[in-house]
Amino acid sequence: HEGNNGVNQEREGYAQNRGESEREDTLTNRQGHPISDNQNVRTVGSRGPMTLENYHYLEKITHFDRERIPERVVHARGAGAHGYFETYGKVGDEPVAKYTRAKLFQVEGKRTPVFVRFSTVIHGSGSPETLRDPRGFAVKFYTEEGNWDLVGNNLKIFFIRDPLKFPDMVHAFKPDPVSNVPGPVGMFDFVSRSPEATHMITFVFSPWGIPANYRQMQGSGVNTYKWVNAEGNSVLIKYHWEPIKQGIKNLTQEEASKIQATNDSHATQDLYEAIERGDYPEWELCVQIMSDEEHPELEFDPLDATKLWPTDQFPFLKVGKMVLNRNPENYYNEVEQAAFGTGVLVDGLDFSDDKMLQGRTFSYSDTQRHRVGTNYLQLPINAPKKRVATNQRGGQMSYYVDKAPGQSPHVDYEPSMTDGLVEASQTAKPHQPHYDANLVRQKLERTLDFKQAGDTYRAFEDWERNDLINNLVGALIQCDIRIQDKMVEYFTNADEDYGRRVREGLEQAKRNSDATARERAVADAEQMGHEADPY
Ligand code: HEM
Repeated sequence: HEGNNGVNQEREGYAQNRGESEREDTLTNRQGHPISDNQNVRTVGSRGPMTLENYHYLEKITHFDRERIPERVVHARGAGAHGYFETYGKVGDEPVAKYTRAKLFQVEGKRTPVFVRFSTVIHGSGSPETLRDPRGFAVKFYTEEGNWDLVGNNLKIFFIRDPLKFPDMVHAFKPDPVSNVPGPVGMFDFVSRSPEATHMITFVFSPWGIPANYRQMQGSGVNTYKWVNAEGNSVLIKYHWEPIKQGIKNLTQEEASKIQATNDSHATQDLYEAIERGDYPEWELCVQIMSDEEHPELEFDPLDATKLWPTDQFPFLKVGKMVLNRNPENYYNEVEQAAFGTGVLVDGLDFSDDKMLQGRTFSYSDTQRHRVGTNYLQLPINAPKKRVATNQRGGQMSYYVDKAPGQSPHVDYEPSMTDGLVEASQTAKPHQPHYDANLVRQKLERTLDFKQAGDTYRAFEDWERNDLINNLVGALIQCDIRIQDKMVEYFTNADEDYGRRVREGLEQAKRNSDATARERAVADAEQMGHEADPY
C-alpha cells in the first residue's frame, strides 16, 4: 500500500519505519494500535465507496468533531502563563500571621507555583483583543494546602453589586440577540436603569477600558474577602496586583483602532513573546485591610463591589510578588480548560458577606461542570499539586480514583468502621461570624452611586477625560433620547463638568449629523435636477 512511504518518503526514518513493527515515534491510535496508513481511508477499489469499519478514520474524525468545548459564557477570549508567587512574609511592616494563617504567606521567600489566565469579557473566543472591556486577571495558586483561586479583573470595581442582575447585565452587553451585531444600545439601556454602574462606566469608557496589553495592567480581586488568623479573628481584605516592572499603559480609542486594523491578538502575542524572550512580567500583590464590621462612619458599604476603598484611609500593603516565566505547552489543555472559581480558598482566607461574591461562588463551578465536565478538577491544570483523596467517583471522563495509598478500593464512603478515608482533625480555631437579621430582599443602604465616579473623573488626566467624553458621546449618540438624558443626569450627579461635556458633545454630534443629512439631501436633489430645498 501507499501509506507513510508515499507522501512522507523524504523524512528520515519513514522509509525504515516500513516493515518495522513499532518505534518510539510511530503514530498510533488511542487504542495503541500502530497506524501504517494515515493518508488513505479504506475503500472498495481505489475509487470507493468507503466502508464503515474504518476504525482509524472514525476515531480520528469523531474526535475532531468534538475538539471544541463550549466557550466560557463570559471571558471567552484569553491567554495564560505559568509562574510563581513569592511571599514577603509580611503585610506592609507587620508579620502577615497577625492577620492570616494561610501557609503560603508565612515564610519570607517561600514560592508557590501559579497559573494565570488573562481575558477580555464580553465577546467570543475569536474577538479582537483591542475591544473596550474590563480584562480578566485570574490567578490559580497551587499551594501546599491545596488550590487558591483569586479570580479578578484589571479594574478595581464592578458594574453591579447584586448577583441577581448579572445574567441581565451580560445579555445587555452582548451582541443583539436578533442581528448578532454588537453595539452600545443594550449596554446603556441597562446602565441607565442601574445608576450604581456610573463609576465603572467612567473607567470602561476612558483609556482604562483598553489596557495596552495584558502585561501592563493592574489586577484586583474586586470583591471583599476576609483573612482569618490563628485565633479565628477576621479582617476584611481587598486584593490588588500592581505591575511593578512593566508599569501601566492604556490606549485611546484611536490607538486601539490602529492596532485592531492589523492584529486581533496583540495582547496574547505580547504576553507569549515577552515570556519566550525571557522578559518575565511581574506584579506585586497588595492588600487593603479594614476591621471586620459594617463601618457606619464610611459613606459606602465595605461589601459594595462598585466602590473603591480610599487609599488614604486604607493604604496598599505589600504581601508578595508574582513572576510569570513559562508559556503553556498546549493552549487548549492549559488555558481553555483552566477553571477558576471564587469558592476555591485555603484555610486562613475566607468569604465576606459580599452578596455578589457569594453569587459568583456558586456560578463558577456550576458553569465548569457544564463547560469542561464533571471531572474538570482531575485535569492537570486544575488539580492541586498535592495529595487528593475523595469519595467522588464516576461521571464522564473519570480517569482515576483519587483514593489514599493503601485504602481499600471497596470503601468509597465515609464513615466506615473498617477502612476508607477519615476526616482531618480540626486544628485551627474556626472563624464563626454571628448573624441576627431578617431574611429580606433589599439593596445595601449606603448606595453612594455617583460620588466616586466624580472623584475618578476629576483624577483623570486631560487626555483621559477627553477620550472618555468622545467615547461616551460616540456610544450614546446611537441610543434612545431617554437613555441619553438619563446618562447625562448620572454624569452630572457625579460631576457638573462631566455631565455638561457629555451633553454638549451629544448636542454637537446631533448638529453634525443633521448637517450631514442636509448636505446629503442637497446633493441628492441637485443630482436629480431639482431645486435644493429638502426641508
Ligand atoms: C468568568 C460569572 C462577576 C471575573 C466567569 C464565568 C462565569 C462568571 C459563569 C465563566 C467561568 C468559566 O467558564 O470557567 C460571574 C458572576 C458574576 C461575576 C455570576 C457576578 C455576580 C465577576 C467579577 C469579576 C469576574 C466582579 C472580577 C473580579 C471573572 C474572570 C473570569 C470570569 C477573570 C474568567 C476566568 C478564567 O480566566 O477562566 N464569571 N462573574 N467576574 N469572571 Fe466572573
